[in-house]
Amino acid sequence: MRDRVRAVWRAVVFLLVGAVTAFVSLLALPVLLLLALSARQVAARLLDVVVGYERRRVAAYTGRPIPTGAEPDTWRHTVWFVVHALTGTVVGLVGCSLPGAAVNSALVPLYWWLAPNDDPVVAPYPVTSWTGAAFMPLVAVAYALATLWVTPWLARLQIRWSRQLLSPPPGARLAERVAELTASRAAALEAHGAELRRIERDLHDDTQNRIVAVAMHLGIVERALRRDPATALPLVLKAQDAASDALAGPRGVVRSNSPPVLAERGLDGAIAGLIARSAVPTTLTVENLGRAPAAVESAAYFVVAEALTNVAKHSGADHCEVRLRGLDPLVIEVRDDGHGGADEAGGTGLAGIRRRVAAFDGGTSISSPVGGPTVLRVELPCGS
Ligand SMILES: Nc1ncnc2c1ncn2[C@@H]1O[C@H](COP(=O)(O)OP(=O)(O)OP(=O)(O)O)[C@@H](O)[C@H]1O
Ligand SMILES: [Mg+2]
Repeated sequence: MRDRVRAVWRAVVFLLVGAVTAFVSLLALPVLLLLALSARQVAARLLDVVVGYERRRVAAYTGRPIPTGAEPDTWRHTVWFVVHALTGTVVGLVGCSLPGAAVNSALVPLYWWLAPNDDPVVAPYPVTSWTGAAFMPLVAVAYALATLWVTPWLARLQIRWSRQLLSPPPGARLAERVAELTASRAAALEAHGAELRRIERDLHDDTQNRIVAVAMHLGIVERALRRDPATALPLVLKAQDAASDALAGPRGVVRSNSPPVLAERGLDGAIAGLIARSAVPTTLTVENLGRAPAAVESAAYFVVAEALTNVAKHSGADHCEVRLRGLDPLVIEVRDDGHGGADEAGGTGLAGIRRRVAAFDGGTSISSPVGGPTVLRVELPCGS
């Protein structure tokens, strides 16, 4: 019962507010029609304001917003406005007067005697005697029962109207849904393409790096075997380690967005691992390095991996230096003392670095004059 009374109270407030907006709309109706003829945009704006308020009112009452279309449907909104202006006041007043009449009837026995006999209390018929007054509580019960049923029903009726006229028509909703699905399908295809490109880049930057390391180690073994076979064994073991390491690479790349080593050892640890595998002696300098977002760390890792592979494959350098400077942006510098001549158009690695970094809104610069040195510098914003 309590819930029922609360529901009626909410319906009364809803209808009362509706009656006020309807009454204002009724007064504004001629102005709006005049504006619709002379200044259409102003009329449309005003209509939007009233429709917006109605949407909020219905959403607050029902907890279910009225769906909106991509474009405001001015014609249907105008029909709603006219209907609301013409009927809202009456509907609202009927809805609110029923509970008012119930309360009034219940109180008549208390105050009818204050009224002189020639000016009877009207509730709903003239009460002129104690007998008449004594019946009023029964009338009050009848009003209360009518209120319990009619007032929420009127509120629902008004909501159904508003919902029907302010929602986009079913056909438009279908067209919008099709547009949404088309967009989400394109997004899914795009995400799929991006994922394939990521796997391709990661295999290239990481796995290829490990295989190049194996090849370089085997080259060193070959030279040792020619010079002094006795010194070759530790080098063979190193090449073997590098080969098993290379086998682990592809699995990690395909399975996750970031190499597991990053989670295990952090960016500096993971890069120290890359450097340990590198065939060209390399030093690492780290400054102010905190944790960056996983995607940024992963991009940084792959940039260094590809840069070190290039140094080993192309530079002929005796020494290489990797610098990492943390905080926002994360700066990576890979410098080798080789013969220079790096050219982005010569392969996919350097261009891939640039694309990977651009995806984060970062910048890539490559300086590699003939004769060296080659410096690759990358800045990766961390989004803070
Ligand atoms: N550190 C470097 N020192 C000298 N030359 C370099 C260096 N890095 C790259 N290069 C030159 O620039 C070219 C382009 O490098 P890039 O990494 O884009 O391609 P790649 O290594 O040849 O092939 P991949 O597509 O497998 O990476 C290389 O072919 C090489 O000639
Ligand atoms: Mg390369």
